[in-house]
Amino acid sequence: MPRPLALVTGASAGIGQSFAERLAHDGFNLIVVARRRARLEALAKRLGAAHKTDVSVLVADLSTAAGIAAVAARAAAEPLELLVNNAGFGGYGPFLEIDPQTAEDLIAVHIRAVVQVTRAALPGMVKRANGGIVNVSSLLALSGSMLPGSGMPLRAVYGGAKAFLLAFSQLVAAELAETKVRVQVCLPGIVKTEFHDVQWLDATRIPPRMNPDDVVRASLKALAKGEVLCIPPLSDVAALQRLEEAQRAVLAVARTPDLAARYR
Ligand SMILES: NC(=O)c1ccc[n+]([C@@H]2O[C@H](COP(=O)([O-])OP(=O)(O)OC[C@H]3O[C@@H](n4cnc5c(N)ncnc54)[C@H](OP(=O)(O)O)[C@@H]3O)[C@@H](O)[C@H]2O)c1
Repeated sequence: MPRPLALVTGASAGIGQSFAERLAHDGFNLIVVARRRARLEALAKRLGAAHKTDVSVLVADLSTAAGIAAVAARAAAEPLELLVNNAGFGGYGPFLEIDPQTAEDLIAVHIRAVVQVTRAALPGMVKRANGGIVNVSSLLALSGSMLPGSGMPLRAVYGGAKAFLLAFSQLVAAELAETKVRVQVCLPGIVKTEFHDVQWLDATRIPPRMNPDDVVRASLKALAKGEVLCIPPLSDVAALQRLEEAQRAVLAVARTPDLAARYR
């Protein structure tokens, strides 16, 4: 039996590296994507030695059109069984002060790359009637109504991009419901990776963080169960059902051509 093949973006650190390690352990061959070649090559060597995994290193900067195109081309050309769109960074800070290029990079890495690589991978998966896509969003996708001072970072573009991934993934999953391809959006809480170091956040002020291996364990288990929305630390599944019911309730009463009385 040939080994199944997975492509993981952001595999040089953190959650992506944990995905690569777990998938190698589970018998997948891998295409690992990030900017830091040395890290990816060390990972490939380690996983090859430990699990006989065939790991292909794909160095790409997903904030650039060329990087996105290179990864999308591989996703279209290879018989992927799993695609993990995980690469990302925070770019936290006041929106009035965000460097416009950082805002563009956030949109490219978290939105443009995910849409294009998913678009490239899906036709083959649907044709083969086999495949899964995991889009790593964040619990902050749900945080739009929380005010500054709630202990969360200022995150307008990052939070907005992660909210895009939530709706995008749910909607693609719904379109593919009749196929054998599963799509999941994973919303980790705060996770112990390089994510916070990269942004020079004061490590002493970061709340307790989940182990990235637990995020991966939750995500793969949720994928096997066919859960579209995976929140690794959430025990109260009913809370999720209430959230989705509330969204549907707003849509149900607002789907009318009549102007609401308070706007007349
Ligand atoms: N840590 C958390 O608390 C947390 C919580 C919720 C969601 N998340 C999400 O989880 C995902 C993984 O983050 P992490 O916590 O594992 O962070 P991390 O340890 O900093 O790893 C980020 C990964 O993304 C890659 N990456 C960043 N920018 C890239 C670019 N322009 N092109 C290609 N690869 C790029 C990095 O590789 P290179 O630097 O080598 O390119 C690295 O492999 C992100 O989408 C993040 O938003 C994290």
